[in-house]
Amino acid sequence: MLRTHHCGQLTKANIGQTVSLAGWVDTVRDLGGILFIDLRDREGLTQVKFDPQVDPKMGEQAARLKLESVISVTGPVAPRPAGTENPALPTGQVEVDATGLEILNLSETPPFPLDDEGGDKVNEDLRLTYRYLDLRRPKMRRNLVARHRATKSVRDYFDAQGFIEVETPALFKSTPEGAREYLVPSRIHPGQFYALSQSPQQFKQILMVAGVEKYFQIARCFRDEDLRADRQMEFTQIDVEASFVDREDIYRLFEGMLKKVWKDVLGTDVKTPFPRLAFSEAMNRFGVDKPDVRFGLELHDFTELFRTSTFKVFSGAAASGGAVKALNAKGLADATQGELKALEDAAKALGAKGLAFIKVEGGEWKSPIVKFFTEAEKAELTRRLEIADGDLIFFAAAAWEKACAILGRIRLESAALLQKRGKVELRPDDWKFLWVVDFPLMTYDEEEKRYLATHHPFTAPVPEDAALLDTEPQKVRGQHYDLVLNGMELGGGSIRIHQPALQKKVFEDVLKIPKDVAENRFGYMLRAFTYGAPPHGGIAFGLDRMVALLCGTSSIRDVIAFPKTQKGQDLMAGSPTPVTPKQLKDLHIKIATEHHG
Ligand code: AMO
Ligand code: AMP
Repeated sequence: MLRTHHCGQLTKANIGQTVSLAGWVDTVRDLGGILFIDLRDREGLTQVKFDPQVDPKMGEQAARLKLESVISVTGPVAPRPAGTENPALPTGQVEVDATGLEILNLSETPPFPLDDEGGDKVNEDLRLTYRYLDLRRPKMRRNLVARHRATKSVRDYFDAQGFIEVETPALFKSTPEGAREYLVPSRIHPGQFYALSQSPQQFKQILMVAGVEKYFQIARCFRDEDLRADRQMEFTQIDVEASFVDREDIYRLFEGMLKKVWKDVLGTDVKTPFPRLAFSEAMNRFGVDKPDVRFGLELHDFTELFRTSTFKVFSGAAASGGAVKALNAKGLADATQGELKALEDAAKALGAKGLAFIKVEGGEWKSPIVKFFTEAEKAELTRRLEIADGDLIFFAAAAWEKACAILGRIRLESAALLQKRGKVELRPDDWKFLWVVDFPLMTYDEEEKRYLATHHPFTAPVPEDAALLDTEPQKVRGQHYDLVLNGMELGGGSIRIHQPALQKKVFEDVLKIPKDVAENRFGYMLRAFTYGAPPHGGIAFGLDRMVALLCGTSSIRDVIAFPKTQKGQDLMAGSPTPVTPKQLKDLHIKIATEHHG
């Protein structure tokens, strides 16, 4: 046995016992020849004293130890001298007086400090290159443990609810109707490919046809998307499907899950049921389908007010069927030129032609567009936006969805600026869960000149809207729901189509997928549905996102042991890489472009 205790365990109760500990050298202090080493393992820190008077040879060995070397020590537990105790540490009352030292492995000097603060300051690329060192940091270890607790809590919850975990293949077939897929060439079938599963969507529906009734899976998914703080190319879903359920059943099921996870991981009581917001209301009030409702700064619509305005930008937008929206960034009139420029750039990145604003200072409205406003218009703006001195008002005039999106973005950026000034407080532990519902089933895609499924093509229409599928598909609401927490989309799902005729109609008549293509891609599913498909629905939650919020971090890379960088690279092992001509030949693949770099 290399150790009798772990490094977070010893207290006054152990005084006098001879113990063995093993771990990493966390810190070394030399106090006039006597060495104090903080020994660290997964559970904590214990102070070890090396007195050269006790054993000169051991003292010499200890003096040569570099940080992060792995050692084991033996010796009696002793009280720390009065005044040197560390109340912040569970083991802070005692130390081990080393009588034996074994060096198990020496360490090179780490390329960055492994404490929380030091590690946070270094470049993330360096942390990812030496991820095994980064993961030694207390914060990262806490994140790994929180992820484990959350996953276990989820498994226990669904087990208790009668769900069974079923694994589904990662190697699936290409059905490009959602996010871009990763393709895997087949060696045995020249010129043919598998696709890595974007989600177990089709399998979980097939499992319902198979009579499984209550399925869940902690499932790995793969999507070839542009990466961001909340997106990885491979990520993990809490994936669920159930038969004979309606939307209310799914809401209750997942509210229960979140309640349990928050209790198990944080000890926090989450209040259920969660509020629900229709998609159109979310867009109108917050400018986004995943609103952060921890603060106000809501959007207001002034399309009617400005329909007759002499300011052509506004009246023009109204005349062409668009919208004029405004928001009051309360107390932000002191925004700097640089901050305003950054806001304008953010708006332009979303397609805004400009970002009109009014600074209200010293009782005066400062803006080049104020001269166009009548007294009645000013009064209406003042009343509805509750304009007061020190406020900053933003306007967006564009097509409805674009105007919402622009101001939705400005709302978030304004909140960040106000938070810097201490005028708005956004606490990460102010848990504002909500369901967003009543999404349109279809969205018209200007590029492809056809309707695309807003969620995915298996989502059922709201029954009372189904008759509009042939005539006005854009008006049909889907039985789709998203769960949103503090501005992050945590999960999404829907009640599915289970009637083969309706599913076929959606593929062929609404989505305009040619008959043979639809048969090739989804024929097996339609066939399965002809053998008695129960009504069913489900949802998938981003486990990485949920754990990131639980850990108070905005980047899911902080809660994934080995994530990829923004550019899709594994900096530790070094992927992706070129492969040998032989490997390519076996896969019947020729590289068409030169490799640069
Ligand atoms: P959807 O595509 O909305 O639905 O995904 C569900 C949830 O998965 C998470 N997520 C991601 N997390 C990290 N990186 C990514 N690249 C990424 N993409 C998605 C999000 C999202 O809410 N099969 C359907 C679900 C269903 O209908 O049951 C699906 O996959 O948190
Ligand atoms: P202009 O008349 O084009 O000089 O615009 C006057 C002000 O309105 C400028 O501050 C522009 O940034 C702003 N602006 C222009 N187009 C829009 C628009 N579509 N929505 C909101 N503001 C706009």
